[in-house]
Amino acid sequence: MPLVTSTEMFKKAYNGGYAIGAFNVNNMEIVQAITEACKEEHAPVILQVSKGARAYANHTYLVKLVEAAVIECPEIPIVLHLDHGPDFETCKACIDGGFTSVMIDASSKPFAENIEITKKVVEYAHAHGVVVEAELGTLAGIEDEVKVEHGAESYTHPEEVEEFVSRTGCDSLAIAIGTSHGAYKFTAAQCTRNEEGILVPPPLRFDVLKEVEKRLPGFPIVLHGSSSVPQEYVKMINENGGAMPDAVGIPESQLREAARSSVCKINIDSDLRLAMTGSIRKFFAEHPDKFDPREYLKPARANIKELVRHKLVDVLGCSGKA
Ligand code: G3H
Ligand code: 13P
Ligand code: ZN
Repeated sequence: MPLVTSTEMFKKAYNGGYAIGAFNVNNMEIVQAITEACKEEHAPVILQVSKGARAYANHTYLVKLVEAAVIECPEIPIVLHLDHGPDFETCKACIDGGFTSVMIDASSKPFAENIEITKKVVEYAHAHGVVVEAELGTLAGIEDEVKVEHGAESYTHPEEVEEFVSRTGCDSLAIAIGTSHGAYKFTAAQCTRNEEGILVPPPLRFDVLKEVEKRLPGFPIVLHGSSSVPQEYVKMINENGGAMPDAVGIPESQLREAARSSVCKINIDSDLRLAMTGSIRKFFAEHPDKFDPREYLKPARANIKELVRHKLVDVLGCSGKA
């Protein structure tokens, strides 16, 4: 089937108590790993492209890679989504350039300005059959050039969501309930430590999510910054020349709980990066004489695929839903 929007996917996910995985793509190996796992698990999927990805790989290459995945995986629905669209022009370029979904992220702007920018994107997108994700509240961490320091993030105010959604006409809403971008989601001061010395982050604010849900019944909610930062890969990186002390993510049990609620889309990027980097570092440590990119990208791609499969089955609950 051709690329789809997320409308039907979200309806089914909301009613079925699961979430769709939204994975960031930057190159061929990542596209292949994600879509092969989804094909084998019969799972719908959102492939998302950030401003940084477009700058790195070029819009056309990314669209064509995703189109290749559509040809290779005709049995699963695939959405091509712009992640953290910074302005109207970028959203327009993606709407005109083959994307079926865009995010306009004006969450760092004042409420009225966020509404104004989002509304403008929604009008253009809807006129072209494209759906729009917007955001209220700010997450800690780094996304493209925007860095929000720990402590400067702000949870979504539930009392703002109805006005925001009705005035903008957006199709889904990303909210801030304590997730965070990147591999260092929390400072040591924000966490406790378990008996193995691993940081345990503060729990997600399910109370905020419940309040949002009450005000927007049936409306798809999105969680960004939802990597779990698998300690297996942090260890692999650290044992093979890396230095990522105190990298910590969102516990998968909490994401599973979120996926059962109104959360219909869960964004995962850093976990795939950790799997790729850990695999490549290990390969080079074990084979210092090798230099063929196909040899070191192969295990990296295989490990990303298995990680995505695990997310589909054990975290998102979307295996078998295509
Ligand atoms: O939230 C941002 C995503 O992880 C994409 O990251 O801007 O480095 O491509 P990027
Ligand atoms: P992570 O950094 O937790 O993978 O979040 C990715 C994300 O939110 C992309 O928009
Ligand atoms: Zn994000």
